[in-house]
Amino acid sequence: MTDTDCILASRHLLGIEGLTREELLLFLDNADNFSEVMTREIKKVPALRGKTVINLFLEPSTRTRSSFEIAAKILSADTINISGSESSTSKGETLLDTAHTLEAMNPDLLIIRHKESGAPHLLAKHLKRTVVVNAGDGTHEHPTQALLDCMTIRQHLRIKGRGLSGIKVAIVGDVRHSRVARSNLYAHLLLGNEVTLVGPETLVPQDFLGPKAFGGKGKISIARNLQDGVKGADVVICLRMQLERQAGNYVPNLEEYSREFGVSERVLKAHAPDSVVLHPGPANRGIEVSSEVLDGPRSLFRMQVHNGVATRMAVLFLLATHKDSTHKELAAA
Ligand code: NCD
Repeated sequence: MTDTDCILASRHLLGIEGLTREELLLFLDNADNFSEVMTREIKKVPALRGKTVINLFLEPSTRTRSSFEIAAKILSADTINISGSESSTSKGETLLDTAHTLEAMNPDLLIIRHKESGAPHLLAKHLKRTVVVNAGDGTHEHPTQALLDCMTIRQHLRIKGRGLSGIKVAIVGDVRHSRVARSNLYAHLLLGNEVTLVGPETLVPQDFLGPKAFGGKGKISIARNLQDGVKGADVVICLRMQLERQAGNYVPNLEEYSREFGVSERVLKAHAPDSVVLHPGPANRGIEVSSEVLDGPRSLFRMQVHNGVATRMAVLFLLATHKDSTHKELAAA
């Protein structure tokens, strides 16, 4: 695998924000390499033998948690999983106390999902030895989702003889509450892609275009109707309506929302006939996307889940070995 000594600036992965394009591509290239391991009869390599990975998931998760666990196991790391109800945070312990308790057992990596934006950053600031990976923090970022989405898009484009840069990406739906949208936005702006955010004002606030927000960084626009938003898109990323994060009324009702912004084959055929569709899952079928699209030939939905394992192998491997080299440097100093 590629040598990481000089290329990863941070020992943690907290977000796509702040990564360089080279770092992003390093993760993607390693994920491509690791996907070969998944096709082997015996899916096991010794790369992280003797390392310990803790999955601390304080919010529900099916695919992210299991793919981190499978990835760590394929790499021969020892893994333990702690979920919300099993952790002492449910007895009133602070997140920081829980994290210090876990660090006292000398894990190498701590994968954290938390409902509060910024929780992984807090741990990264206070933990001395443990590498922190953000597996989704509130409405903020979900970096490994964006990486696996980019990996999946790149695979598709390769078949068409195209590269991952200079494409048109539409991100449709509840952008306001979506960490997947934010991480993908950062990634596609780094890659030099054109991004259109599609949705009503309540779900796609105008301030995404402000000079201090994403609008200051690249080719980004907002569309208030689906037809204009997906016009000519190469990739359409559907977002789940984050009903659990919507304290107020962001749409008059779901039926009406779905009539206007639900991604359908009819609209794609007319306005983005060559597009592929992604959805991070879990999907609300019939709300943000139709089953016809999700299960149809343009959908990369299952491929995303498949690529989630190789992506997380790459992240675990690069961060665990990066930490080793940092430690060696410290020991030699
Ligand atoms: C996403 C998440 O949890 O942010 N799901 C996932 O990790 N695959 C998207 C979502 O829940 O909407």
